Order: sequence, then C-alpha cells, then structure tokens
Amino acid sequence: MRTLPVILDVDTGVDDALALLFAATHPAIDVRAVTCVAGNAPLEQVVDNTLRILDAANAPAIPVAAGAVRPLLAAPRVASHVHGADGLGGLTLPPTSRQAADVSAVELMRRTLIDSAEPVTLVALAPQTNLALLVRTHPEVLEKIERIVFMGGSASVGNATAVAEFNVWHDPEAAAIVLGAGVPVFMYGLDVFNQVTVDAAIAETLAVGDSPLGRVVGALLGNRVALSEDRSLVYTGLIGDAGAVCALVAPDALVVERRPVRVELAGYGRGQTVVDRRRYSGEDAIHGGVGDWTVIDVAVDVDAPRFAALFLETLGLSG
Ligand code: RIB
Ligand code: CA
Repeated sequence: MRTLPVILDVDTGVDDALALLFAATHPAIDVRAVTCVAGNAPLEQVVDNTLRILDAANAPAIPVAAGAVRPLLAAPRVASHVHGADGLGGLTLPPTSRQAADVSAVELMRRTLIDSAEPVTLVALAPQTNLALLVRTHPEVLEKIERIVFMGGSASVGNATAVAEFNVWHDPEAAAIVLGAGVPVFMYGLDVFNQVTVDAAIAETLAVGDSPLGRVVGALLGNRVALSEDRSLVYTGLIGDAGAVCALVAPDALVVERRPVRVELAGYGRGQTVVDRRRYSGEDAIHGGVGDWTVIDVAVDVDAPRFAALFLETLGLSG
C-alpha cells in the first residue's frame, strides 16, 4: 500500500531518471506530483525527459509541471558535460504520450499540498529554485509539508567546485531560503551520494538484457560521467539521486547526524553547505559567528550495498 505521499522536484538528468523509476515503482511511495526545474539540462528538455521516463516506468498518470527556467540570481548553467546534450546520456526513449500540466510547478506543488489529507514529503533532487519560490509565494502550505528531503550539499567534498555540490551551487540563494523556511529538512549530500554504485558488470548485462526497463537502467548507469586523470571518461555506476529516494524507505541504512548547516553565498565557497560537526563550540561562539545556521538532519554515511540492492530489487532487476 502506497503510504508515503511525495512530490519529486527534478532536473532530469541521468540520475533523476533513476530516482523517478525507483519512486514510481516502490510500493510504499505515493508520487503525487513531479515538478521540473532547469539544472542538468534546460527546462524544456527536463520536462520531456521526465515524461519519457515516467512512460518507461509504466507510471500512472502523475501530474508533471514545469518550473523555473533558471536560478533566482545565479547565471543559468547546464551540466551537459555530465548528463549529455539531451540530459539522459544519449539514451533515446520513445516520444511521450503524456502532457505537462498547464500550471506552474509552484502552483502544482501548492495544489498538491492543499488537497492532501496528510502532510507530504518534498523530495528535491535538483537546484531548489522551485521550492524557494513555493515557500516565498505560499507560506500557508508550509504546515502541509512533512519534511524536505534534498539531494544536495556536502559535509566534505564538493563536485561542482572543490567545496560545493552542484544542486546547491547552481542556486545557492534558493537553498538558503529553503533551509530557513522553518520546515524539517534532511540532507542527502555527496558524503553518501558518492558511495552508492552498481557494478559495471551488472549495468552492462542489464543494458543488453531482455528487460526493457533493465535496458533503460543499464544505459543510464553506464553513462560515463567522470573524468579520470588522463581525461578519459570512466564508469561510476552511481545511482545518484535514486539514493535520496531509497532513504525514504530504508532510513536505517543511513548514519544521520543533527547538525547546524548554512549555505555560503559569496567567494570561492559560494554554494558550499557548511556543516558544523564540532563536538564543542569554538571561537565563533565567543566572538560572534557570521550568518544564520539551521539545525537539520545530515546523512554522513550509508550502507551502500544495501541501497544498491534495494534499488535493483525494487525495479525487479536483481537477477
Ligand atoms: O550533485 C549531484 C546532483 O546534481 C544530482 O541531483 C544531479 O542530478 C545533479 O542535479
Ligand atoms: Ca538531479
């Protein structure tokens, strides 16, 4: 029985696609709506990719809406060097029969929250521009948000920069607004995102197997996104955003700390999520710190093989 109502906010993208397939298939997850934002690819491409992936999942008629075409303030950027020009690593799917809703992402989120009998979990797998616009435009719906689970940030290494993760770096102001919205927040950052992978042999077998869904998943996993020292593309097998959705249904596979977090908005550290993991306060407690901190739940470690197995088993691809 689908017991966990969620709204997914995506910039589909290779790993957003894996997350959509998992969320639409897992029996406990009730995907009430999907909202799209520019990030990995331009907005129009993100919407088309999302609709085609929902077709591949044989998902029910889940409403999908287009949102922000660019970040609130930052210059628009795309990640075609990671997700390919089409955002799906060159995976060609049949044209979709679905239509995007004729309302904005913010309006679809507002309606979905207002119409829900119970609070809804917002799962942000992309730059948080849509969520920031929602909390600024419709504060009346905040009480209908169970919590915000976001893939983004890091308590350690970055990817977009040495210290910043792509989703937060793409729209730092949006991330800061969402962090300060007064809603419970759970951060699924690079500290765990970078650990959950599927073996190359499994991906290669799926990509040429008999299962249409397996061929889609195998192709997405096989998207070469990382550059090695000699600038050659290497296999990573990351399930990426799908891990943040796995966290909804297998939270005990994570090590979570409750920590003060802030988003840097200036300097080289712009887009960094600073996670204060000190056991004792420091000079800033004595001499005065800088900026606002929000105490949130931060995933700092994960049973990666368990998430990888959950992902494949849920999709019926575990052999
Ligand atoms: O940093 C990884 C995140 O940025 C993922 O959500 C990926 O899809 C991109 O949006
Ligand atoms: Ca994403």
